[in-house]
Amino acid sequence: MIKTLKTYPLLSQEDTKTLAVELAKTAQKGDIFLLEGDLGSGKTTFARFFIRHFFGEDVDIPSPTFTLVQTYPTPNLLIWHFDLYRLKDEGEIQELGLEEALSTGVCLIEWPEKLGSYKPSRCIVLKFEATREKRYVTLETIGYWETRFDSLL
Ligand SMILES: Nc1ncnc2c1ncn2[C@@H]1O[C@H](COP(=O)(O)OP(=O)(O)OP(=O)(O)O)[C@@H](O)[C@H]1O
Ligand SMILES: [Mg+2]
Repeated sequence: MIKTLKTYPLLSQEDTKTLAVELAKTAQKGDIFLLEGDLGSGKTTFARFFIRHFFGEDVDIPSPTFTLVQTYPTPNLLIWHFDLYRLKDEGEIQELGLEEALSTGVCLIEWPEKLGSYKPSRCIVLKFEATREKRYVTLETIGYWETRFDSLL
């Protein structure tokens, strides 16, 4: 079941932060956030605010552009931040530990189009769009029946 929840304007990074923190507060083991959108649309910015909710403002959250993945252990959750832009083929996915990540952690995945057949059937999709004047993001859930995101509406 696909539920399109809402489109949020992102007028500034503060707006991105507000949404990221709201979602981080509800995050549970097994949640997979697919961060879709063109180059520069705001995916890493969202991931940074999400992760900083657990670690504080001063923590360095590098973009995993070249490493493809960075992990962040919290006391209760292991957060995996993927950027699959440079992934060459699906075979590399296993080497990254993605299967383990999907089942045991909280995943934030930039360029999820690259997942191919690994695309999960249960996930939260954030579609980022940026034009010269405007930025926004549309939130969608796939395969979630519970109502825990309803407070975001
Ligand atoms: N809500 C926002 N308001 C204003 N600027 C923003 C916002 N979100 C992101 N930016 C700016 O847009 C630029 C690109 O953001 P970001 O790196 O998050 O994009 P990305 O989608 O991760 O790009 P890539 O596809 O290259 O990984 C950065 O300079 C960032 O500061
Ligand atoms: Mg990025």
